[in-house]
Amino acid sequence: MATQEEVFKKMVSHCKEYGFVFPSSDIYDGLAAVYDYGQMGVELKNNIKKYWWDSMILLHENIVGIDAAIFMHPTTWKASGHVDAFNDPLIDNRDSKKRYRADVLIEEQIAKYDEKINKEVEKAAKKFGESFDAELFKSTNPRVQEHIQKREALHTRFAKALNDNNLDELKQIILDEGIVCPISGTKNWTDVRQFNLMFTTEMGSTADGSTKIYLRPETAQGIFVNYLNVQKTGRMRIPFGIAQIGKAFRNEIVARQFIFRMREFEQMEMQFFVRPGSEMEWFKHWKEFRLKWHKALGLGDEKYRFHDHDKLAHYANAATDIEFEMPFGFKEVEGIHSRTNFDLSQHAKYSGKKIEYYDPELGESYTPYVIETSIGVDRMFLSIMCGSYKEEQLEGGDSRVVLQLPPVLAPVKAAILPLVKKDGLPEKAREIMDSLKFDFKCVYDEKDSIGKRYRRQDAVGTPFCITVDHDTLNDNCVTVRYRDSMKQDRVKIEDLHALIDAQVNMKNLFKKLIG
Ligand code: GAP
Repeated sequence: MATQEEVFKKMVSHCKEYGFVFPSSDIYDGLAAVYDYGQMGVELKNNIKKYWWDSMILLHENIVGIDAAIFMHPTTWKASGHVDAFNDPLIDNRDSKKRYRADVLIEEQIAKYDEKINKEVEKAAKKFGESFDAELFKSTNPRVQEHIQKREALHTRFAKALNDNNLDELKQIILDEGIVCPISGTKNWTDVRQFNLMFTTEMGSTADGSTKIYLRPETAQGIFVNYLNVQKTGRMRIPFGIAQIGKAFRNEIVARQFIFRMREFEQMEMQFFVRPGSEMEWFKHWKEFRLKWHKALGLGDEKYRFHDHDKLAHYANAATDIEFEMPFGFKEVEGIHSRTNFDLSQHAKYSGKKIEYYDPELGESYTPYVIETSIGVDRMFLSIMCGSYKEEQLEGGDSRVVLQLPPVLAPVKAAILPLVKKDGLPEKAREIMDSLKFDFKCVYDEKDSIGKRYRRQDAVGTPFCITVDHDTLNDNCVTVRYRDSMKQDRVKIEDLHALIDAQVNMKNLFKKLIG
């Protein structure tokens, strides 16, 4: 049996081999933590964005979208706190010369305690069988208790160090826990330092005097600085939201795990403006809605969980992540933050503009509070690929690689396959293609045996293969082969549209979300 790590590596190669994701500037051997999406990847990515955009804009009368520029006035980032506080604590190992995020090293150590606890529980569950009570075992077994206590002590110490911004303490934790560099195996660590993650560039020619500007590290600020414009021109009444999809840039210290942590990535963010005092109620509402959105895709409810933040960002009074179980553990895919009125107040202060809302029901003005939902398109893409990539052993010793993508997100919805390249079958297949192509992304393929063609479609996650054979010319029926079950059905050509639509139309998921 392949380990999770091996499966992950194969999935990454699969992404390149089948046109999903390529290293950026591949012919020059790539650029660290920057990636390009290929012909299949861009379709999947666009479908993810559409699923998100429509679930915000179509399903909510009080949410509108914008598309703000990447370059923003540099004062934006002073006001938002990013110039002073958008830092990661970094530490170097003197022997390997490798650089790490101190907080990530400690989080990984906490995860190791979790693993030890889980292993003990699994071992005991096997031993005691059906009558096993995991909670009772955890609270009474001395070895498990020891792990739990160590984990809790480390967690408390870590959270305090983060909140106090105590870099010496972070280093001390790393030393006390005996954390070694995975490359050199030594504990020869430098001190922990802060590192600002924003990229800078210059605008204007140097002769005229250029201005230092930043590549936005989050799309959210484009929404905040447009709050007044949208509220006024859209005559929006609180509570209301502004949604946006766009690129963000961060000079990540440790960029790894493929497209999990990138230096250029895309975010889908929504800022929901509410009455002060109602923010916790809305925070709860958006947490529930967003989790439902993820689960509706059908990759398995058990693959998602919430993770509350130990250290709140400088702007937040509550924050949680939605994590997905990747092959390298549960990892953040989306953040939901209660950002108070921090951003709007700061922009009011730095711009000198009054950013307030007159609430006709209360008869008073206030600076709105904000609930933010923020999800990375690329991370979402990765979670979908990890959840869908399967290597299956088939009867007769055969095997296949199949991407069991949620049909609504699959890059190609149907492949039209004439059994042979003659006898009028290609013409009939083209006719079917022409009748479906306005509604669904279809491909036509007549090369190689039908078995090989099925495998090619499995590898890119096409839910339906439609085979046109000699009987089709007489009975106007085709063979539909389903990706996941590999079962085949004889279907009338006139029923194909409804059959495909029932599986791939996002409408069905949206009904679940508001049902
Ligand atoms: N506006 C809030 C904000 O930006 P964040 O937790 O820093 O919050 C939100 O980022 C989401 O953006 C994350 O949950 C993740 O999906 C994505 N993201 C952040 N940094 C990323 C990176 N370096 N590469 C890929 N995705 C990233």
